[in-house]
Amino acid sequence: MAVATFPVAFDNPACTTREAWARVPQEPDPKRRAELLDACREQLRAADATLVAHYYVHPDLQDLAQASGGLVADSLEMARFGARQPGSTLVVAGVRFMGETAKMLSMDKRVLMPDLDANCSLDLGCPGDAFSAWCDAHPGRTVVVYANTSAAVKARADWVVTSSCALDIVAHLHARGDKVLWAPDRHLGDYVQRNTGADMLAWQGACIVHDEFKALELALLKEQHPDAPVLVHPESPPAVIALADVVGSTAQILRAARDSAATRFIVATDAGMFHALQQQNPGKTFIAAPTAGNGATCKSCAHCPWMAMNGLEGVLRCLRDGTGAIELDPALAARARVPVQRMLDFTAARRGGAAPGALVPGIGAA
Ligand code: 13P
Ligand code: SF4
Repeated sequence: MAVATFPVAFDNPACTTREAWARVPQEPDPKRRAELLDACREQLRAADATLVAHYYVHPDLQDLAQASGGLVADSLEMARFGARQPGSTLVVAGVRFMGETAKMLSMDKRVLMPDLDANCSLDLGCPGDAFSAWCDAHPGRTVVVYANTSAAVKARADWVVTSSCALDIVAHLHARGDKVLWAPDRHLGDYVQRNTGADMLAWQGACIVHDEFKALELALLKEQHPDAPVLVHPESPPAVIALADVVGSTAQILRAARDSAATRFIVATDAGMFHALQQQNPGKTFIAAPTAGNGATCKSCAHCPWMAMNGLEGVLRCLRDGTGAIELDPALAARARVPVQRMLDFTAARRGGAAPGALVPGIGAA
């Protein structure tokens, strides 16, 4: 087992290490907000640009993406949608790896982000050189990395997965006899290992948001709401996942809420998700899963500090001034694109009923 130390901490005075911080934009007043929305719409049109937003970013950005012909989605669909867009510019409201994935799939497009410093604890906790040395130390294994990684890490991988397709892809690899080297999320890795039986060696990274959900408190909350199915993102700790009725990516959580006859749900994922959950299910109630015990002095807000760095001002700035452009070395991008494309082709083939790899001209199964 590799142990990756975390170079990350919230900018919380109670924390002793403050190596990372979030630059969260100020909430605009209603007048400024309306002006910003108008200006963003105008700039998106003028720049022939499409806004692609993750479910965890500010509701204003989710609504703007939807209203302007863009997309709000999970990380898999963001990648797929961005690559299909005919326009010359993509604005990615999310975190760095999402912008990098969009860029490597569309090197001819300009890919802009509201704030290039919006990162991810999984990406930061798995540096390219350390990861590469770890791969060298474990030859003969199929290298599977989560999408929440840098282009340098993806360039060393055989497969990229997101939380919505990790189970299917590792099950496929296990069925054909592969042993897996997995990075970086230890909880998702553990979940995938237990559900596929695959032989997996895992990097020990974690999401600073999902790692905060607490199983004991969740069990108490379930007792108070026995009618409420528990929907959990698989970056959560195993004891939290064990209490789930549904484990899935952001999009899968949304689908489960929509398709269920239940009217009340307990949700263990980033607080940003409640906007889409509520919007798509106006008659249903969503209760946030607990992130601390009673009397705890430190309670996580369950909102990703890097996702929170995305705001309307940032969208306007990057479109107006061309700031926040993702730049990738073409040779690195070409290598990183192979395992990403393999994932996109595998998932497309599964949806279409074709054999995995059948839609993968020039790449095929690794
Ligand atoms: P999804 O792939 O479910 O969108 O998750 C991405 C992510 O960063 C979750 O924390
Ligand atoms: Fe990374 Fe967690 Fe933020 Fe998702 S919620 S971007 S996994 S830190």
